Amino acid sequence: MLSEEIRKSFLEFFKKKGHIVVPSSSLIPDDPSVLLTTAGMQQFKRYYTGELNPLSDFGSQRVTSIQKCFRTSDIDEVGDDSHDTFFEMLGNFSFGPVGPDNPLNNGEDGYFKKSAINWGFEFLNKELKIDSKRIKVSVFEGDDDVEFDKESYEIVKQLGFSEEQIIKGNRNDNFWGPTGNNGPCGPTVEFYVDDLEIWNLVFNEYFKDENGLRKLNNPGVDTGMGIERLAMVLQKVPTIFETDLFEPIISILSVELSSRAKRIIADHSRAIAFLLSDGVRPSNKEAGYVLRRLMRRVIVYENNLDLNIQELLRRIIDEYKNIYPELNEDVVISEFDIESKKFKSALIKGVGELKKLETIDAQQAFKLYESYGIPYEVIKEIGAEKAISLTREDFDEEFKKHQEISRAGAEKKFGGHGIISEEDEKTKVKLHTATHLLHWALREVLGKEVQQMGSDINLERLRFDFSFDRKLTAEELKQIEDLVNQKIKENLAVTFQEMPKEEAEKTGALAFFRQKYPDIVKVYSIGDISKEFCAGPHVKNTGEIGTFKILKEESVSAGLRRIKATIT
Ligand code: SER
Repeated sequence: MLSEEIRKSFLEFFKKKGHIVVPSSSLIPDDPSVLLTTAGMQQFKRYYTGELNPLSDFGSQRVTSIQKCFRTSDIDEVGDDSHDTFFEMLGNFSFGPVGPDNPLNNGEDGYFKKSAINWGFEFLNKELKIDSKRIKVSVFEGDDDVEFDKESYEIVKQLGFSEEQIIKGNRNDNFWGPTGNNGPCGPTVEFYVDDLEIWNLVFNEYFKDENGLRKLNNPGVDTGMGIERLAMVLQKVPTIFETDLFEPIISILSVELSSRAKRIIADHSRAIAFLLSDGVRPSNKEAGYVLRRLMRRVIVYENNLDLNIQELLRRIIDEYKNIYPELNEDVVISEFDIESKKFKSALIKGVGELKKLETIDAQQAFKLYESYGIPYEVIKEIGAEKAISLTREDFDEEFKKHQEISRAGAEKKFGGHGIISEEDEKTKVKLHTATHLLHWALREVLGKEVQQMGSDINLERLRFDFSFDRKLTAEELKQIEDLVNQKIKENLAVTFQEMPKEEAEKTGALAFFRQKYPDIVKVYSIGDISKEFCAGPHVKNTGEIGTFKILKEESVSAGLRRIKATIT
């Protein structure tokens, strides 16, 4: 089945099920908490929360769409068989069920798990004729915060799936959202075909913000299926790049190129055409920075491999302009040209510098970026062996450090203590108290031999170094994370006392041995669990912290471990 037919049959199917077809929204979302549109539900966020009324806007609580999406998070995966940055998402949505599963009533026609799962299966099995033996379904197994999704499990069973075909997934795999810092989220049911994940059905029962999860009054449905993957299944090809969505684009690239290079060039060029046409322009921040990275990576390929990217961009626009008339060839070609000219001379100098280096670490990589505008991906590629230990995480950290320094500079210059810096201060204070809780939890789980060896806080995360002689297991990390979150939830008071150093030592308060303390010290206590020598400041109640999450545990040197964690 060709992609054009897939689009049609999806929208027709859900139209027959009473949905209103809504056009794709722009890749630039109307939502300051996200940079770009990453899912079909993005344009509908405020219908889930009840801020907007679907009945007055669409005359129905059921809508369906094919949404242009872009995901930076998958950029390092592009080049494999099934990942891309830009893609189209097929979706059906319901805002607010009525009763158990919707008696038509006052125009309210929302639905929930039963209809969503049944229709999902019907579409795959009856409409697209995918044999049910090839299908697997996953449901959320439950955890401390959210219960096992028994309702979905039962519905899936009733469809006739065997135990082997039903997978129970954890929080990572079967819980979705929110996009950005806040928004609707909930457990998911996912359809797999031949073990490839193709369709995600999200049951938005919750709303997440800085205070954590709360139940939504009107739970909703948000489903999303990438058309590229579905086409791969239906067209029986082993990669998305061989579907009719990519084949005409990739086929004009020379056969000499490696398939990874071709895939990256084709994917990025497609994204570039759509982003530029929706009004994103290359720059050094936010969405513009994402676009600039894609453009510069492609420009480097063009330079090194003697390609004609403009021809490729024209082909992409030809392929897609019937469906997306907003694609604007003049804008795309001229913006690409401007960026190429801007970047080319710096690129030659930068590559010259890069070649002189023996190895490239995050600091050097950042310098290359700062002085010559060479993005991380390009440094990684051209640097090859020399950049083998360079990671995106370290690079991003360096990037953020510099942003903070320049922001601090700007604040000083304007004599300001602006709102931004007050908010930043609050975040750091929360991370500081979270550091004490982490220190306490580490000693609870690993034993009292754990000693603090260092710590550091920036706006994004806390870092805590401690003595311990082996890698922590996944269970230990989870236990530590859970303990910290439990103590946050208990809303423990954080207090301090000032006292002479000797007296403080007698209380058993933990001190950081590398530090010299004055004669009178402050001792901070959290409830009756943690006591540390510390100058503060801290939050008043642990409840203010939010949700604690461990990002990474690693070795620093023999006997010294490091945890990076954050709060959301
Ligand atoms: N929002 C969900 C996703 O992006 C389902 O559409 O996977």
